[in-house]
Amino acid sequence: MKILMVCLGNICRSPLAEGIMKAKLPDHYVVDSAGTISMHEGEHPDKRAIKTAFNHHIDISQQRSRPITRKDFETFDKIYCMDINVCEEVISKAKNEEERQKVSLFLEELGDYKNVEVPDPYWGDMTDFEKVFQLLDKGCDAIRNQISK
Ligand code: 4NP
Repeated sequence: MKILMVCLGNICRSPLAEGIMKAKLPDHYVVDSAGTISMHEGEHPDKRAIKTAFNHHIDISQQRSRPITRKDFETFDKIYCMDINVCEEVISKAKNEEERQKVSLFLEELGDYKNVEVPDPYWGDMTDFEKVFQLLDKGCDAIRNQISK
C-alpha cells in the first residue's frame, strides 16, 4: 500500500501528515507527501511544523517539498488531500476514473462531513500547528484502521 498526503505548499500540513502516518504504520507501507504548488520546492518543512512534530517525538526535518506529478497517480494507491481546494486541484490532474478514485479528502475517513478540512496553519502560530497536529493524528488513526481492515 502506497499513500500520498497532499496540501498546498508541502511545508506544513502534508509533511506532518506524512510523519505521523509513517509512525503509525509498519515499514513496508510507503508514505510520501507533495504540494499542489511548486513555490517551496526543495525546501525543508516549515520550522514550526518541524518543532511541533519534534514535540511528539516525530522527525520530519529531512523531508523536502515537491509538487505532485502525473506519475504520482500511477505510483500511489491512495492520495489524501488536506482541504477541498487541494482536492479539486488534484482531481483536475487525474486522467481517468481509476485515478480519480484514488483521491479523497484526508479527514473524510473521520466521518464528520462538516469539518472535512485541515486548516492551513501557515499564517498562524504554534497553537495552530498543534491543533493541526491533533487533527492529523486523529485522521491518521482513522486511515490506519481503514486500510488494515
Ligand atoms: P501547507 O501550508 O499547504 O500546509 O504546506 C502552506 C505553505 C505555504 C503557503 C501556503 C500554505 N504559501 O502560500 O506559500
